[in-house]
Amino acid sequence: MIEINNVSVQFGGVKPIDGLTVNLTKPIVGLIGPNGAGKTTLLNVMSGFVEPKTGWVKVNGETITGLPAHKRAEFGLRRTFQTDQIAEDLTLLENVEAIADHSTFENREARRKAVYGAIDFVGLSHRLNRRGSDLSTEERHLAEIAKALIGSPKLVMLDEPGAGMSGSESEHLQKVIRGIPGYCKSQVFLIDHDVDLISACCNETMVLDFGKLLALGPTLEVLKKPEVQQAYLGNFDELEAAA
Ligand SMILES: Nc1ncnc2c1ncn2[C@@H]1O[C@H](COP(=O)(O)OP(=O)(O)O)[C@@H](O)[C@H]1O
Ligand SMILES: [Mg+2]
Repeated sequence: MIEINNVSVQFGGVKPIDGLTVNLTKPIVGLIGPNGAGKTTLLNVMSGFVEPKTGWVKVNGETITGLPAHKRAEFGLRRTFQTDQIAEDLTLLENVEAIADHSTFENREARRKAVYGAIDFVGLSHRLNRRGSDLSTEERHLAEIAKALIGSPKLVMLDEPGAGMSGSESEHLQKVIRGIPGYCKSQVFLIDHDVDLISACCNETMVLDFGKLLALGPTLEVLKKPEVQQAYLGNFDELEAAA
């Protein structure tokens, strides 16, 4: 459960988030909006990279705004970045293990299970010992998701995990994302431009435009709204196809 209350962000003369209030209750929530709508900025507020000028965010009833980034991680907030953060010179296994170093586990076996389990869950067990530099774009996105699943997450936020993927790769990604709430009891907040991915994964979708809430509701209903189609003028055909 995510509660966003009157959140505003200001960068000089730009207000990428403008008095946003919204409650997001479904297991997998989508966030769409045109380029520059404020999607990544909202995710930055939630993950602690940007302090809002006004407002607060609660996750499962706990206020997370104001907590330093490491406390948010401890609480169970996880995110991926639009530009992946895979270390090129480490293997996939080492990349995921590095995240486990920041979490606490009952014992070594529990840690090992979390690391290997997450890699297996995203379908990359056969790439364990490949270096980051040898991974494809799809594999890097999946590796980022594996990292986000370590250490009992409560909320996993994915920033455009489908960018640069082909159709069949995107289908695998859909399965992975849909499986997250069952795998680790975490809510998922999915930002993407790909409305097919959003429709396939999200029970509920919110639309941001110029930092304000344009629509919120069941995904297919939201995609059919005239004001949403209008905001997406350039991608009208894509929206039509998905709805
Ligand atoms: N650190 C920053 N400093 C100044 N302006 C920023 C900064 N980050 C984002 N912006 C501006 O805020 C707006 C929203 O950006 P962003 O949240 O990245 O949009 P989206 O992810 O929806 O494409 C854009 O106009 C962008 O240029
Ligand atoms: Mg963005």
